[in-house]
Amino acid sequence: MGNITLKAEHLSKVFNVFKAVDDICFEARRGEILGILGPNGAGKTTTVQMLLGLITPTSGYIEALGMDLARYRQKIARNVNFSSAYVNLPANLTVSENLHIFARLYDVKHPETKIEQLLDLLGLQGTQRKPAGQLSSGQQIRLNLCKALLNDPEILFLDEPTSSLDPDIADRTRQLLMSIRQERELTIIFTSHNMAEMEKISDRVLFMLQGKIIAGGRPTEVIQRYHGQSLEEVFLKLARQTKERKEGEL
Ligand SMILES: Nc1ncnc2c1ncn2[C@@H]1O[C@H](COP(=O)(O)OP(=O)(O)O)[C@@H](O)[C@H]1O
Ligand SMILES: [Mg+2]
Repeated sequence: MGNITLKAEHLSKVFNVFKAVDDICFEARRGEILGILGPNGAGKTTTVQMLLGLITPTSGYIEALGMDLARYRQKIARNVNFSSAYVNLPANLTVSENLHIFARLYDVKHPETKIEQLLDLLGLQGTQRKPAGQLSSGQQIRLNLCKALLNDPEILFLDEPTSSLDPDIADRTRQLLMSIRQERELTIIFTSHNMAEMEKISDRVLFMLQGKIIAGGRPTEVIQRYHGQSLEEVFLKLARQTKERKEGEL
């Protein structure tokens, strides 16, 4: 496993008085798929948005690619990218038009070649002239990934990328992500509330609950440490313990 590409130290985000992210610390390495797991409202998206520099942390420190994010946001932004199931590309523009717009935005040196290569990698050859809105849901996710790989990012953030896909297409998307990670030595930060999915794809997972990281490690280690059969079972156990502890404090 490679060197550290992303580091979060005592990261918190408070909205008014509500702690959406509560003093979390973690690192990610080159070539690693780090899964951030947790139920809706756990703080996953808020965390990703801080790591991307889209929202400012209330406190804490983020280092990406060896640089302080607060100081070198622009420089870092050139080498990271993002894809989410909830962000769609303009539906009336064709696949080719969409990708050329982003290629220009990212200042890609040889856009034609780059786009060709990525369409090939993502199995989207032949869709160039189709409006993005007419692609199947699996193709739209892959188009989003294509966009996200245009600038050859070193860190790729994926916020619930497979949550709207049917199981078969979700599985194929995961296979694709794993091969891209291997080929490009990418750091992939992947959020999901689907525990089974995370068990398959992640090198390491972080369990988030109510803004806190309540456990973390390699999926097999986490399962062993908490004497479970699956991540899902372990997570339910930990969530229950956390709830009981909270009730005990009241
Ligand atoms: N802009 C905001 N203002 C107020 N509360 C927010 C805002 N964004 C998120 N939250 C709250 O923070 C918590 C964590 O949200 P989020 O990070 O989206 O969780 P997740 O992605 O794990 O579902 C939720 O309770 C959500 O309602
Ligand atoms: Mg979310």
